[in-house]
Amino acid sequence: MENFIFQNPVKLLMGRGMIAQLSKEIAADKRIMITFGGGSVKKNGVYDQVREALKNHYTVEFWGIEPNPSIETLRKAIALGKEQQVDYLLAVGGGSVIDGTKLIAAGLLYEGDAWDLVLARRPVTNTVPLSTVLTLPATGSEMNNGAVISRHETKEKYPFYANFPLFSILDPEVTFTLPPYQVACGLSDTFVHIMEQYMTTPGQSRVMDRWAEGVLQTLVEIAPKIRENQHDYQLMADFMLSATMALNGFVAMGVSQDWATHMIGHEITALHGLTHGHTLAIVLPATLRILRKSKGEKLLQYGERVWGIISGTKEERIDEAIRRTEEFFRSLGLTTRLHEEEIGQDTIVEIERRFNERKANYGENGEVTGEVAREILESAL
Ligand code: NZQ
Ligand code: ZN
Repeated sequence: MENFIFQNPVKLLMGRGMIAQLSKEIAADKRIMITFGGGSVKKNGVYDQVREALKNHYTVEFWGIEPNPSIETLRKAIALGKEQQVDYLLAVGGGSVIDGTKLIAAGLLYEGDAWDLVLARRPVTNTVPLSTVLTLPATGSEMNNGAVISRHETKEKYPFYANFPLFSILDPEVTFTLPPYQVACGLSDTFVHIMEQYMTTPGQSRVMDRWAEGVLQTLVEIAPKIRENQHDYQLMADFMLSATMALNGFVAMGVSQDWATHMIGHEITALHGLTHGHTLAIVLPATLRILRKSKGEKLLQYGERVWGIISGTKEERIDEAIRRTEEFFRSLGLTTRLHEEEIGQDTIVEIERRFNERKANYGENGEVTGEVAREILESAL
């Protein structure tokens, strides 16, 4: 196990009716800007619950943070927040609204263009406090300090780090209205978050391995049931908690991480707009195929503990573990090959070019260069 420092300050309020707690959790004298996406919260009662809870607070609303939040939209939110002198942010939505609000939190205290903060690739600690009401289990953004910001005019998409939310409210009932495709992408994203922190060098930590495998097993168990009945509170509660636990640092203590699949997936989203979790369902099986040598021992452990694969030669068991992984994504209703999304060689060439330009060396061992990314994507064709 490597040395590590762990601190996650986010307070979780989980369960039915918890949105009402907003009135107590946010000080009465705050000037709050509430940020939203495209309007799903108006159809499922979340907006009404938030309004009711904050009826005695000063609030300004900012609407229209889109999936894969763009700097173009966030600049408008920052301008409104400065004009209204807000000193608290409440993000109400999925990962995109929360991520976008993390950049707004930094941008409100920055004089220049907030895109500078993304390009600087340094965590920003000078931010306005922010909290969240989560409506889509997937990203873990409600309990981490990361965000991913897009710039539509140049088709770029990069990670950005700021401060953690102060608290996050997770009411599983608000997920009942999610489109099934978003549920599938959320399950896929959660699965791959665990894999990015688990499918690395074996033997680094028994505890981390089993926590990770526990979340993976939970997802494998609940996914088909959720696809049958998305209104089952207990199932959606387990999904929500799995997503939060998958990317809040708890499974990453003292172990190495990968994230190559994510970096390739972000490029596919930037170039084609394909939903984040869906890009991962295409890229992860291909990453495992191409990196099967360096990941072989861990693939055997994963195959046995998550999929019960115990017979056959090592190579056969590795094949089967990768096959079952791809099959899992397909069982969610997602495609797992680029051609199924009409993405072809020109995109692969462009991603290789971008990776080469930034001298990319992603992955646990830095082995995912532009050339390896091309091999991965060609294996996903
Ligand atoms: O915009 P509205 O109308 O709210 O609709 C949203 C949106 O269209 C809808 N939705 C959300 N909750 C709903 C709902 N519809 C009905 N009922 C509900 N309860 O779902 C659509 C997608 O929402 P979005 O926030 O884009 O999805 P997600 O949570 O998957 O976030 C994706 C973004 O997060 C980034 C991704 O790259 C992507 O930009 N990620 C952030 C991470 C982080 N902060 O740590 C890590 C992840 O790896 C990921 O990269
Ligand atoms: Zn992700």
